[in-house]
Amino acid sequence: CGIVGYIGTQQAAPLLLEGLTRLEHRGYDSAGLAVLGGSGLKVAKQAGRVRDLADGLPKRFGGKIGIGHTRWATHGPATDANAHPHTDEAGRVAVVHNGIIDNAAALRAELTAEGVVLASDTDTEVLAHLVARSSAKTLEQRIAEALGRIEGTYGIAVAHADFPDRLVVARNGSPLIIGVGDHEMHVASDLAALVRYTTTLAHLDDGEMATITAGGFTTYALGSIEGTGRPGLTATDRRAKEVDIDPEAYDAGEHDSFMHKELLEQPACAEAVLRGRLDERFGTGHLGGLNLDARELRAIRRVKILGCGSAYYVGQMGASLIEELARIPADAEAASEFRYRNPIVEPDTLYVAVSQSGETIDTLLAVQEIQRKGGRVIGLVNVVGSAIARQVDGGIYLHSGPEVAVASTKALTNMFLAFGMLAVQLGRVRDLSIADGKRLIAGLTRIPEQIDQVLATEADLALVAKRLAEAESLFFIGRVRGFPVAREGAQKFKEITYRHAEAYQTSELKHGPLALISPEVPTVAIVPDDELVERNVAALHEIAARGGPLVVITHESVDLGDLEGIVAGRIDVPRNERELDPILLTIPLQVLAYHAALELGHDIDKPRNLAKSVTVE
Ligand code: G6P
Repeated sequence: CGIVGYIGTQQAAPLLLEGLTRLEHRGYDSAGLAVLGGSGLKVAKQAGRVRDLADGLPKRFGGKIGIGHTRWATHGPATDANAHPHTDEAGRVAVVHNGIIDNAAALRAELTAEGVVLASDTDTEVLAHLVARSSAKTLEQRIAEALGRIEGTYGIAVAHADFPDRLVVARNGSPLIIGVGDHEMHVASDLAALVRYTTTLAHLDDGEMATITAGGFTTYALGSIEGTGRPGLTATDRRAKEVDIDPEAYDAGEHDSFMHKELLEQPACAEAVLRGRLDERFGTGHLGGLNLDARELRAIRRVKILGCGSAYYVGQMGASLIEELARIPADAEAASEFRYRNPIVEPDTLYVAVSQSGETIDTLLAVQEIQRKGGRVIGLVNVVGSAIARQVDGGIYLHSGPEVAVASTKALTNMFLAFGMLAVQLGRVRDLSIADGKRLIAGLTRIPEQIDQVLATEADLALVAKRLAEAESLFFIGRVRGFPVAREGAQKFKEITYRHAEAYQTSELKHGPLALISPEVPTVAIVPDDELVERNVAALHEIAARGGPLVVITHESVDLGDLEGIVAGRIDVPRNERELDPILLTIPLQVLAYHAALELGHDIDKPRNLAKSVTVE
C-alpha cells in the first residue's frame, strides 16, 4: 500500500493524485483521497486504479491539505467502502494506513457494542473512530490515545476537520517520509512519491509521530505519560536533510514499462554492486559492511538464507554458491514459513535476510525471531535505511537503484552477485585457493558485459516468447544449480503472464510430471554445459518423445544432437565460471516473461493481485 499527504499553498488533490500514481506499484486495487477545504473534509475513494479515481473526482474538490492512499487488499475485498481514507461517522476525521492492526476484530466488536456503525470491513477504520471518540485536547494526543489501543504495524496520516492547519503522521513498522518544500510539505510512504517535489527529507523512526503544517514539522516519540500509563508524547528533534537522489531514476523514460527499463539497466547496476568490493590481488571479496572479521567468518558453521518470492529463489542460488565455494552447509528457506516452525537458531550459523525493499514483513519478522534467539543476521537489501537494513547486524547493500516493477530484475541480479562475493570471501578464509578466488573474481568482473550480450538478443527472445504466450500451462526445469534458475523463471512467468508455470527438478520429471507433457505443454529447460549436461539432454529426449515442445536455455558448446531440429527455441548464453553461470541463465527468462506478458497485453508493471512490497503477513 502507499500513502501520500500534502499541506501548503497549492490545491492538494492534483498533487496527491500524481503522488499516488508514483506509488501504484505498492498496491493498485483501490485508491482514495481526503482534502480539507473551506467546506470541511471531503473524501473520494473507489475500487480500481488511481486514474479511475482521478476521472471520477467531483468538480468541487478544493483544499490545500490532504491525504491519499493506494491499497493492496488485506482485510476485506477491494471495494469502494474498503478503500482508504477511512472516516468516523461524522466525517470529521480521515485516516490512511499501511500495515495491519492485529486486534482489529476486538476493537470493531467493542465499537459496534458502543453503537458505532462501521462502514467497511477494514482494520484501519477503527483508527478513525478511536481518534474521533477521544476527548483529549490536541489532535496529537487523540491520535496517541488511539494508537495506544492498537496492536500491530502502521504508517498513518490523519486529517481532522477541527484542526484544519495540520496533518499528523505516525510510524510503527511501515515507512513514512516527510518532504520539506517552499511553504509546503509533502508526506509519503516511499521516496518515489516525493523526489519530484523535494529532496529535503526526514525519515520517521518506529514509534515516532509528526505534526506537519505548511511551514514545517515537529516530531514526538510515542510513549506513556509517567505514573499514569496513559499514552503520551515527548518531543524529539528530527531534522530534515538534503539527500542526493536523481529524480529521473524514478521515471520509466522512453520505456513502455519500468520492467523493461530495469531489465536493460542490469549491466550498469551489476557494475555498481561489484564496485570497490572485489580484491583481484588476493582473489577475494571485500565486504566491509558485513562487520565480520576473518576470524568471525571462519567460525561460521552453517549459512541460512531467508527471503520471499524472487528473493527466496535467488537465496537458493546463493546457498549453492556458498556450499560450493566455501564448503559450508547452506540452505535457503521462505522467510514466511521460517518463524512458524520454532526454528533452531545457533550461534555459529550466519543468517542472511534477502530483500529488495527491505520492508517485506515476513522477512523482517524472521530477522527479529532470529535475533530474539541470539542469532546473527546480515542483510542483502536494496533500499538504504529500510526496516530490514536497520534491523540486521550488517550486510551488503545492492546498489540497484529504485526498482519499481513488481517483477524483480535488476535487484535480483545484484542479490546473486552479492552472494557471489560473499561466497568467495567465505571460501577464501577457508579452503578456496587463491587461484580459484582469482578465477571467480575475474568471472564476476565479466558478468556485466555478458548480461549486455544476453540482452542484445532481445529480439530473438521476443519471438520465442510469442510462442510460449500461447500455452496455458508450462514447465520450467533445471537441476542442482539450474533448479533455482527454473524456479525464478517460473515465478517471473506466472507473475506477469498469469499462465500456470511450474518449476521442477529435471531429474524428478519422470517421477510424476511427465504425465502432463503433451504438445500443448511446453517446457523451458535450463541446460548449462556442466557436469550434468548429459543427464539433462537425456531428459529432454524423454520430453520430446512425448511431443512436448522444448525451449532450451543453454551454452553454445552444448550438443543437443538429434534434438536440434525439434526444439522450438534454443537460447545460448555466454559462459562464465560454472558456479556463476546461473545468473546469466536467468536473464533470458526475465526477457521471455516480459515479452510473453507484452504479447498477452497485460499491465507488466502491475500484475493483478500482487504488490511490489508486501508489508502484511
Ligand atoms: C512480493 C513481490 C515479489 C518479491 C517479494 C519479495 O511478493 O510480488 O516479486 O520477490 O515480494 O520482495 P522483497 O522486497 O523482500 O525483495
